[in-house]
Amino acid sequence: MIDKNQITEVSLTEEQEMYKENVLDHFKNPRNFGTLLDCKKEKGLNPLCGDQIELFVKLNNNKIEDIKFNGKGCAISQASASLLTEHIKNKDLNEVKQVNEEKIKELLGIPISYMRIKCANLSLKTLKKITGE
Ligand code: FES
Repeated sequence: MIDKNQITEVSLTEEQEMYKENVLDHFKNPRNFGTLLDCKKEKGLNPLCGDQIELFVKLNNNKIEDIKFNGKGCAISQASASLLTEHIKNKDLNEVKQVNEEKIKELLGIPISYMRIKCANLSLKTLKKITGE
């Protein structure tokens, strides 16, 4: 059973500790949290735990002009949504389509166990429903 508030199960290097603090900050103070009107939107659900994300994406000339998310769930799922939206806002759609699981892991910067990979990827999978990748 996953402890939803646990960030990682392994001991961390000094650099990873800094990333962990950043992840916790994104969880407690999520960037781009909210909703948008007149935009593309999709929901994502992790059926194992019931956690969910809703993404709102406003495109303009193939660029992410604005993006918001809301949802509820574990620290990793919500922090990765916050980090992802921050990373892709104002980026070209072709660039956004290159974002993959490796990029999410890089943004989180801490070891993600097999059990938590679904948490880390929840927002990315939801985004792919919108970008069509
Ligand atoms: Fe549900 Fe992480 S425990 S998404």
